[in-house]
Amino acid sequence: MQSNNIVLMADAYILGIESSCDETGAAVVRSGEKIVSNVVFSQIAIHAPYGGVVPELASREHLRAIVPVVRKALADARQSYQSIDALAVTQGPGLAGALLVGISFAKALAFALDKPLIAVNHLEGHIHAVLLEERQKGNHEVNFPVLALVVSGGHTHLYLAEQAGESWRYENIGHTRDDAAGEAFDKVAKLLGLGYPGGPIIDKLAQFGNPDAVNFGSPQIKHRDRRKGSDHDPGERPRFDFSYSGIKTAVLRRVQTHNLQSSIDNRRKALAAIPKPSLDDYRTLCDSAALDLVASFQRSMVEDLVSKTLAAARAYDAATLFVTGGVAANNELRTTFEREASQAGVPVYFPSRPLSTDNAAMIAAAAYPKLLAADFATMDFSAEAGMALR
Ligand code: KG4
Ligand code: ZN
Repeated sequence: MQSNNIVLMADAYILGIESSCDETGAAVVRSGEKIVSNVVFSQIAIHAPYGGVVPELASREHLRAIVPVVRKALADARQSYQSIDALAVTQGPGLAGALLVGISFAKALAFALDKPLIAVNHLEGHIHAVLLEERQKGNHEVNFPVLALVVSGGHTHLYLAEQAGESWRYENIGHTRDDAAGEAFDKVAKLLGLGYPGGPIIDKLAQFGNPDAVNFGSPQIKHRDRRKGSDHDPGERPRFDFSYSGIKTAVLRRVQTHNLQSSIDNRRKALAAIPKPSLDDYRTLCDSAALDLVASFQRSMVEDLVSKTLAAARAYDAATLFVTGGVAANNELRTTFEREASQAGVPVYFPSRPLSTDNAAMIAAAAYPKLLAADFATMDFSAEAGMALR
């Protein structure tokens, strides 16, 4: 594995590998700005019967998929192991066993090929997915500071990003105190008998319900600086934290108080009997009480995510907003962000939907500035399940 500066050619082809959760991804990206290939093998069908990701199954499936997925990414890109310039792999955060599959494979490849290996933080990957999307459209102008909301099944994090030379520096100014937003979508969908993952189906069904039918209120978080007698440091920068375990409990309470359980059980059974339920199947199996609950839940989640992000943008004078991660695929979230950010006079960018959820193109894109800075991983680096982004 090279640890010295490499001679940079005009075009640098990076092979990215992603295995932090339940998607095995490999992609070739040219110079951080053009996707040449992007292969994602999703394990959703394997985890769906359990209503969530089973870590042991995820590692096993990554092991099965990694070689064919990488080979396909190279073939689609008309590249070979020898022709690529560098490798990039997700180091964390994520499931330790799942991360290790990608890391071990990437290390072995880099060693055998004598190519540089770059370790990438998965959250930085999600942020660079936005940049990659914009560069592909020919937009190379991004004003700093960038405020990035990374909103997925495992994260609801706000980062203030600045550019330092080729690299980016991040300050975390908010995160969820309990459940991530995507986790709330998944848990509520499971509770309502809609299967896994919940985000995409709630997104599609919400348009058929009344979003004002149930008032969930906005999640209350006690900030340290708002509590009486707190040890708040007056010099501390403001934080914008989230909390989504309460809304899940509120949905459960609603199910109990409105006697919705038997219709939920019927829906769960009926959907399990259909091999690939269509939107029409879901819709006919949902009564208006369920559709109203879905629409009201989504409205409440969207309002909270958008209002806190915009408050943070004002507090930190952000010049640009990035919204990324699996939940950024949500239609209502996108339109609400677009409307509110335009009123606030801040441009907002999202990745396309395939780049919102986990993929390896974002990992290869995030690795490009590190390639320019010769910031390479050494042979002894390992998975960091709880890796922070700085
Ligand atoms: O980024 P991602 O693929 O994996 C993680 O890093 O977690 O995000 C997956 C999450 C799941 O919770 C899924 O339900 C949610 O993103 N999601 C959505 C939508 N598509 C995926 N949530 C709301 N609306 C969507 N359209
Ligand atoms: Zn992710």
